[in-house]
Formats: sequence, structure tokens, C-alpha cells
Amino acid sequence: MKIKNICCIGAGYVGGPTMAVIAQKCPKVKVTVVDINEKRIKQWNDENVENIPIYEPGLSEIVKEARGRNLFFSTEVDKAIDEADMIFISVNTPTKTYGIGKGMAADLKWIELCARQIAEVSKSDKIVVEKSTLPVRTAAALKEILDSTGNGVKYQILSNPEFLAEGTAVDDLKNPDRVLIGGDIETEEGKEAMDALVNIYASWVPREKILTTNVWSSELSKLTANAFLAQRVSSINAISELCEKTGADVNEVAKAVGMDTRVGPKFLNASVGFGGSCFQKDILNLVYIARSFNLKEVADYWEQVIIMNDHQKRRFAANMVRTMYNTVSGKKIAMLGWAFKKDTNDTRESASIYVADYLLNEQAEIIVYDPKVTEEQIYSDLDYLGSRSGDANRQAVTVVNDPMEACEGAHAVAVLTEWDEFKDLDWKMVYDQMLKPAFLFDGRRLLEPSTKREIGFEFYAIGN
Ligand code: NAD
Ligand code: UDX
Repeated sequence: MKIKNICCIGAGYVGGPTMAVIAQKCPKVKVTVVDINEKRIKQWNDENVENIPIYEPGLSEIVKEARGRNLFFSTEVDKAIDEADMIFISVNTPTKTYGIGKGMAADLKWIELCARQIAEVSKSDKIVVEKSTLPVRTAAALKEILDSTGNGVKYQILSNPEFLAEGTAVDDLKNPDRVLIGGDIETEEGKEAMDALVNIYASWVPREKILTTNVWSSELSKLTANAFLAQRVSSINAISELCEKTGADVNEVAKAVGMDTRVGPKFLNASVGFGGSCFQKDILNLVYIARSFNLKEVADYWEQVIIMNDHQKRRFAANMVRTMYNTVSGKKIAMLGWAFKKDTNDTRESASIYVADYLLNEQAEIIVYDPKVTEEQIYSDLDYLGSRSGDANRQAVTVVNDPMEACEGAHAVAVLTEWDEFKDLDWKMVYDQMLKPAFLFDGRRLLEPSTKREIGFEFYAIGN
């Protein structure tokens, strides 16, 4: 079976870049990305390709090449579903904020809405691909909903989790470590559907990197992969605290440990804590699933990764207060970076939000600079926490467009996102503009300590 027409529901951080790369690599396949968010679709269609809603290195060039040729962004969800042979569901699956499983389980309401809409609209057979990250066994629920209309339309459900990381999405999509496709390996129709998706990826991914499994393994592999990655960060962050007490340096420890080929060097950078829309959500979901099967030890084991991460964020902020003579009330603190990592404008679960909230509770005055995050987003992140009124947030937090302006007259500067430009700041000039003693807190191990101390900074870095 040859796929001619793809629809992707959800034009977010995954749907947008993934479909742009599929459209670029498969110019004969029509790819339509749909979303109910009109503003987002309008931005994807902006004449100036630099205004697309997601900042990812290399993405605007691909959109420029494929948009209007075989890549389309639209709010006409029904039409795109009707026309497609293959439908990717790439909608958000955040942690539930209400009811059973509140604060733990993934909220599947948008997934179910998609399934109901597909069932209602479809007149021809479809391959439905789970691109969103979903709890293991979601495909069974999807199948029930899709089959419930009894109108004779046949569906094959595949699981094809996405492993891209933000900030490197384009590279990750063009050159993935693997592509995972789960499907019904027991039936001919199931195998045919899997082959159809394999063939799409095989346009640019070597066959040996395309892995096919049963649906449940594929669904569970995604949660497991994120849990393993986050666990490495929490492990090194746990050691960073011990380093600070003992005179060991976490970078040296990470290097020594990571050179063991069984461990490997990646994902061992100590930090102010991991953020992003995936790690916390997916681990909480894993913990919830384990608990629902009464696997207490399994659940507790993975929950510790989150507990450690929350501790790391809090401990960083608490250390700032302690170092600055146990009070930051009325003090001006410059925060460099608001995104959850460099090279993205995404701020979901960013450590910066929690550090800012902690310092605001201590009555600090905060000035934020981030090269890609808007003022509107920063206030909205703080308002979402609900720690204080929107007015109070706007009164205590100022957002500026220039790092030097942020640091002017500050008691302290905190580096919270590892943007390259912070490495090359004129730190002597920063120092000269600050109040003395000038405190500098590096939550990313981005800055070279000795040169900062030579300038005169009271310098503190995670794990140093
Ligand atoms: P996102 O919030 O950026 O995008 C989701 C989009 O889906 C939104 O624009 C929303 O308006 C749209 N949507 C929701 N319900 C809809 C409906 N019924 N019809 C049409 N559009 C609808 O989310 P994201 O970051 O792209 O994540 C999507 C999924 O991919 C999640 O399950 C996530 O766990 C997973 N994932 C994310 C990443 C990542 O780095 N962000 C990586 C791998 C997997
Ligand atoms: C992650 C997974 O890497 C990706 O495979 C999955 O598809 C989605 O979730 P993402 O959240 O976009 O991707 O970014 P990632 O690079 O994993 O970073 C997550 C967080 O961990 C960031 O806040 C990052 O700064 C932090 N991190 C990462 C560290 O603190 N130290 C590290 O060594 C690595």
C-alpha cells in the first residue's frame, strides 16, 4: 500500500517539525497539518517564514521549501481527515489537572476527541498513527472508539512515538537513532499498515534503524526512554550536591564515569534541574501506570527521579538566598534564560519558572532576559502557578531584550538556560555594572569559574 495523503492532527512542537521533514523527504506525498488553534495555524502560514510559531534551528528553511508544494497547514480538520490514507495524532497529552489521576496520569481527552472525530468523518479505510506519547494500551481504547460507528470503515492503529528533542528537532528527525513502529504483527492487514509507514521513513532513514514491534512494546518504550534519560540527569544532579559538600567537581566526576563505554558520556550534565514538556509528564504517567497495577516498588523507584529534580530546583534557589546573607527581599536579581534548554522558545516546566517563583516568594525583584521567549509567555508561566496575582507578577518581574540591561544594578545574576551567547557575554562589563559584592550563580555549568572569580564575582556553580 502506497501512502499519498497524510493528515497530522496537532501542529505543535512535534506535529510541525515531524511533518515538515516528512514533506521535505517525500515530495510526492501530500502532508496536511491541522489544528484547532487558529492563531498557531496562521503563524505556520505566515508569509515571513521566520514567524512560524516554533523556533527550531533549520526548521524555517524546510518549511520554506515544502510549504505550498506538498506541505499545508490548515484548520479544516474534517476535510484533511476525509482526504487522508494515513492520520497521525500528535496532540498534547499533558498531566491531568483534575479528577482521578490528577497530577499523575496523562490527560487523554484530546486524544479521544481526535478518535471520535476520525470515526465520525471517515468514509474510507485509514491507518491511524499514535505520534503523541501515550500510556501503554491506549491503542486498544482508540480501536474501540474508531470501530464503534459500525459504518464498515476499517482502521489499523500504529504506534510511532517521537524521540526528537527540542532545539535539535530537525537533526534528530533527519538522522534519528531509530524509528519505532508498533502495530498488529499478527495479521496481514496489520503488517501491511506497518510496511506503509516503514516505507515513508525509508525514504531517508536506513532500514536497519527502523524497528518494528508489537503495539504495547512501542507505547511503553517511549515512556521508558524518557524515564531512563531523565534518570541520568537526576543521578548526576544527586551527585552534584555531594560534590559541593566534598570538594569533588561534578564535571570531572561525570567525565570519569561517562568514559566507561557501558555508561556513555551523554546526558550527564549537572543542571538546575530538567524541564520540558516530556520528562516529568511521562515519568508521572509511568508511576501512575505502575501504581494502577499495584507495582509499588516500581512506582516508587521512578518517582524518585522527579523528587530529586524538584529538590534540585529548590536547592538552587535556596542556595541563592542563603549565599546572599539569607535575604533577597528588595534585591534585584537578573535571570539569564527562561527556556527549558537552549535553542528553543519552549518554556514548559522550565526550571527558571520555579526558581523565579521561589525568589519572588522571598520578595526579590526579578529581571529576565531570554533571546527567544516573549514577555507574554514569561508572565503567563508565572500566572499559571497561581502563587500570586497577575498584577503582583508584573510588578515584581521585568522582561528586557538585552542581557546587559538585565544585569545593570543587579545584586545577583543567575544563568538558567545554557544559551551560547551567555558564554560570550562581556562578563567584566557585567561585573562593573552590578552592585558589590556581585553574585553570579551558574545553574548550567556554562561559565568557566576561575576567570569569573578573577574578575571579582562571588561565583557559585552547580556541583562545583
Ligand atoms: P503541543 O501542545 O505543542 O501541540 C499539540 C497541538 O495539538 C496544539 O497546537 C493543540 O491545539 C492541538 N490539538 C489538541 N487537540 C486537538 C484536536 N482535537 N484537533 C486538532 N488539534 C488539536 O504539543 P507537542 O509538544 O507537540 O506534543 C504532542 C505530543 O507529542 C505529546 O503527546 C508529547 O508528549 C509528545 N512528544 C513531545 C515531544 C516534545 O519535545 N515536545 C517529543 C516527543 C513526543
Ligand atoms: C526529551 C527527550 O530527550 C526526547 O527524546 C523526547 O522525545 C522528548 O523529551 P526534550 O525535553 O526536548 O527531549 O529535551 P532534552 O534534551 O531531553 O532535555 C530535557 C531537559 O533535561 C532540559 O531541561 C535539559 O536542559 C535537561 N538536561 C538534559 C540536563 O539538565 N542535563 C543533561 O545532561 C541533559
